Amino acid sequence: MNLQKDLIDLLPLGEQAVHELLDDAAAQKARLRQNGPDTEFAGRTAALYFEKPSLRTRVTFEVAMNQKGGQALQLDAGTIGIGKRESLADVARNLERWLDVLVCRTFSHELVESLAKLARVPVVNALTDVSHPCQALAFGLTAREHRGNLEGLTLVFVGDGNNVARSLAELAAFCGMNFVLSCPDGFELPVDFVRQILPEFKKRGTRFEAVTDPKEAVRGADFLYSDVWVSMGQEGQKDQKAGHFLPYQINAGLLSAAGSQALVTHCLPAHRGEEITDEIMDGERCVCFDEAENRLHAQKAVIRRLFRATGRL
Ligand code: CP
Ligand code: NVA
Repeated sequence: MNLQKDLIDLLPLGEQAVHELLDDAAAQKARLRQNGPDTEFAGRTAALYFEKPSLRTRVTFEVAMNQKGGQALQLDAGTIGIGKRESLADVARNLERWLDVLVCRTFSHELVESLAKLARVPVVNALTDVSHPCQALAFGLTAREHRGNLEGLTLVFVGDGNNVARSLAELAAFCGMNFVLSCPDGFELPVDFVRQILPEFKKRGTRFEAVTDPKEAVRGADFLYSDVWVSMGQEGQKDQKAGHFLPYQINAGLLSAAGSQALVTHCLPAHRGEEITDEIMDGERCVCFDEAENRLHAQKAVIRRLFRATGRL
């Protein structure tokens, strides 16, 4: 089996790999519940290089390493000074000598891609301005737990065509789901990405659409997905976005337009009262905290796969 060294995006991984990751994530969850922590990652070290804030991603990667007998180091992006104190290539040449996996949250997607090319250790995209594949895997595990087979189900992302939306579209394509983005005009996913992903839906006979009217978009949906309207690093767009996004709040009215089958989730952190109301977040149909838990299990599956790819497991 020729496994890829890195996890940068789901699309290049392909359908089979995504299904294997989801299967293993479920297995990791069951294994933890039955047997507690294990030692599969004994002697292995992950380093977390984060240029942006994080709660879930940092904690779950660190806990994942610890629960499997390995360790995680937090790198201080400011102190390392990639490209300032020394070149990216030299940083990579150092890190690969000590580490088993490098988990990166950066503004620039190209930075993570370059690190993956330059370093001989696996690199994981823990969110960039472009994508958030680990989040999409956690959604996939959560959706399977709640609905079983995802084929033919519909995921409606309500809000900005952002990094999370993009990775969810990739996941949805490989899981045979329909994907609808409901956003104000001008906030769709980038055209070059649409060109890449559309054939994946077409060949499976599933739908990939952008629908401006949120009430129309959510009708019959199985999952409504919410995220902040202004992503980290894009705070300057707040005023430009204000107003446009108000109809895209997930509230009781929108959920009722979706129908009684619909579940709601959010990658978190949520801006309660903006993109989602308290009533929905705290309601029985919201599975966002299940998804947050599943970050841990999905990331164990990611690390296991990359360790297998590089002879570490
Ligand atoms: N959903 C997510 O990635 O959360 P953090 O930004 O807290 O890591
Ligand atoms: N789109 C959000 C996701 C946070 C997990 C952001 O990039 O800030």
